Amino acid sequence: MAIKRVDEFDFENKKVFVRVDFNVPLDENRNITDDTRVRAALPTIRHIMSHGGKVIIASHLGKPKGQVKPELSLKPVVDELSSLIGIDVPLAPDCIGEEVRKMVDALKAGELLVLENLRFHIGEEKNHPDFAKELANSCDIYINDAFGAAHRAHASIVGITDYIKEVGAGFLMFNETKYLSKLMSNPERPFLVLLGGVKVSDKIGVIEQLLEIGDIFLIGGAMATTFLKAEGFNVGISKYEEDKLDVAREILTLAKEKNKPFVLPTDVKVTKDIKSNEYKCVHVNEIPPDMMVVDIGEETKKIFCYEIINAKTLFWNGPLGAFENPAFQEGTFSIAKCITNQKNLISVVGGGDSAAAVRKSGFADGFTHVSTGGGATLEFLEGIPLPGIKALDRY
Ligand code: 3PG
Repeated sequence: MAIKRVDEFDFENKKVFVRVDFNVPLDENRNITDDTRVRAALPTIRHIMSHGGKVIIASHLGKPKGQVKPELSLKPVVDELSSLIGIDVPLAPDCIGEEVRKMVDALKAGELLVLENLRFHIGEEKNHPDFAKELANSCDIYINDAFGAAHRAHASIVGITDYIKEVGAGFLMFNETKYLSKLMSNPERPFLVLLGGVKVSDKIGVIEQLLEIGDIFLIGGAMATTFLKAEGFNVGISKYEEDKLDVAREILTLAKEKNKPFVLPTDVKVTKDIKSNEYKCVHVNEIPPDMMVVDIGEETKKIFCYEIINAKTLFWNGPLGAFENPAFQEGTFSIAKCITNQKNLISVVGGGDSAAAVRKSGFADGFTHVSTGGGATLEFLEGIPLPGIKALDRY
């Protein structure tokens, strides 16, 4: 693949459209609860600004489905960006149209502007050529740094590249693909795969792919209850995927055939109410009928940590317990600590809630790479070509 990187362009006085993934979590008061994606785009933004580019930043936020939803304005993100780079960054009232055109034309070398939420227009998700052309707005260079959205064939990700002469990838896009490709092509062994999160169904493709390349699998989170149920354990009132028990059995059989350890928890924390902080730790064959699994147990933590100590490469997707409740975050956090204590371990975490869980644990800085992608990371690891990366492959 021949994709030009952001540091290979001449930006001096050029209009540069930069697609980022500023789809950040917001609380009910529209405060950003995790600004990682904004921080992750800074090296690319700073590079273009300092090399005389006129930076036009575009992103989606949430799923407004082609309607203007003020609660999904990029305003809070622009405030965060302004405070991170120490400049008052303007937010355009829209992402296309006459007013935006004027604001873009008024930009001077080294200045930047953020366009309003791309998904306020239906043309974005539909990859409509008219919308893509309007977005391109006579820009000279297109840089995509939105790895988290690279699995979406949307107008600002794919269609727009038909209307801008020079295209390339930002630093974040490059780093993400570098670390994730290394995992799947030539990992140092043993390669340990740690899987958690809620559903097996969301991850069948990636689990099958990882079964090819990984050596040892450790399973936690709500997903483990589906596997435990498939193995014949009673899981009380735990949520599990009744219609995926066959798939879970197939995965277990496949792992056995490939002679790859597929380690389920031996003990778990159980509670009657996921919101309470009362729980007890039981062996997996003693889960009470009126209780649900909410975290891995003490013995399981030791088993997992033992395997981690012996690994050379690790990929982690999915929290190991209901970590949103502080009473049930111990399993996830202690495993994050165990991973970051291993100085020679290449550790990559990504997909959905995983990165948020690791950041909440306070150990994120100790990982080799924390991916900003959710679905994009999983599809990449599954070997599905991402449209946002394919569209940059020009040279
Ligand atoms: C994400 O959060 O995974 C990306 O920003 C893509 O968002 P989407 O799932 O709404 O397309």
